[in-house]
Amino acid sequence: MIRCSLADAKTRQESIEGLTSAVLEYAEGLPVIKSYGMTRESAIEMRKAFRDSRTANLSFEEHILPYEIAMMILYGAGMTGILASAIYLLQQGSITNVYFVGVVLFLFSIFSSVKHLFQQSTRLTIMKNSLDRINEVFAEAEITDSGIAKISDDETDAEIEFRNVSFGYGKEDILHDISFTAKKGQMAALVGESGSGKTTIASLLSRFWDVGSGEILIRNTNIRDVKISDLMEHISMVFQRVYLFNDTIYNNIAMGSGASRDEVIEAAKKARCYDFIMSQPYGFDTMIGEGGATLSGGEAQRISIARCILKDAPIIILDEATANIDADNERSIQQAMSELCRNKTVLVIAHRLYTIANADKIIVIDKGHIAEQGNRDELLSLGGIYSRMEAANA
Ligand SMILES: Nc1ncnc2c1ncn2[C@@H]1O[C@H](COP(=O)(O)OP(=O)(O)OP(=O)(O)O)[C@@H](O)[C@H]1O
Ligand SMILES: [Mg+2]
Repeated sequence: MIRCSLADAKTRQESIEGLTSAVLEYAEGLPVIKSYGMTRESAIEMRKAFRDSRTANLSFEEHILPYEIAMMILYGAGMTGILASAIYLLQQGSITNVYFVGVVLFLFSIFSSVKHLFQQSTRLTIMKNSLDRINEVFAEAEITDSGIAKISDDETDAEIEFRNVSFGYGKEDILHDISFTAKKGQMAALVGESGSGKTTIASLLSRFWDVGSGEILIRNTNIRDVKISDLMEHISMVFQRVYLFNDTIYNNIAMGSGASRDEVIEAAKKARCYDFIMSQPYGFDTMIGEGGATLSGGEAQRISIARCILKDAPIIILDEATANIDADNERSIQQAMSELCRNKTVLVIAHRLYTIANADKIIVIDKGHIAEQGNRDELLSLGGIYSRMEAANA
């Protein structure tokens, strides 16, 4: 019985996880889903997750039910049998009244404990499965942080260098032999189809993952040899999906940096968010809902840019938002970004090609390979993927 319920409990656990992520995805993506009139398609996905979860729960209950019924029958029959014998013995005068009451009390206490034990065993099965899942997560290999090298202050070497980097999230590589450099103050832009591996390249530079083979160097130092906190001091990131904390605007920009109020305000001005912050009920002390729920996408993006301006790291990673942002917001974001990128080395992932027309280097990623690399003029004269992308964008 334990083995059978363990298998069912595992399926049940997996279906609960599936349901949770389906509901979260649906809720988070609701604005996009609505704007594309895809409520029906997305709801189908979520309904399927509900159905799977219902099936798994029913199957779990169905498997456990016969054992529960058998247990109840055994429990009832046992109680009745012993109680009947005790009454019979009492009538025969073999036991006294006090003895009879003792037997009845004993019966109830022992059988209710057995019943309780059985119920708990079902719950234990469910708990064991949840624990197994938690242990699986803990068993994932951690990124080692044993580096002691310092990133040098010498800025003559390439600021960022990828050397023959390959990487895969699972067994299969999704990045193959990626090599490129960006010198101090340069802007390198990654372009390519959705899913080609651009965000993955940026995540490797900030060591969210470690490369499978090859090396990533900052000023000629392998990032694996550097303490992660040191690496993070050198890099600022603006993500594709902005995340803001359920805290004040001020704290979301300062992020524990210990910067003075004047510095925070200065960063907000540079990131073109000062005006809309001041129009909030409590200015910088206005609370932002979890995930930035109370701000527009463009405003949230500018707050995250202000955060990076304040951090003032020499390397900036920009993963442009793919969501549609209105023209006014777009202009403010562009201004904020140019402010952020001034005198910095920038690795930008661009979805709108006109934003990177002046990039020192454009790297075209195609299914995890570098297909083309060069400045805009060079790529246009190649007449390859990049020129086709520009033509399609025009
Ligand atoms: N955390 C992850 N675990 C497993 N696979 C992932 C993970 N993140 C991305 N992938 C996969 O790796 C591939 C590259 O994804 P990546 O996010 O780097 O693409 P991208 O070029 O940034 O796409 P987009 O333009 O849509 O942002 C995709 O096939 C994607 O499904
Ligand atoms: Mg991406």
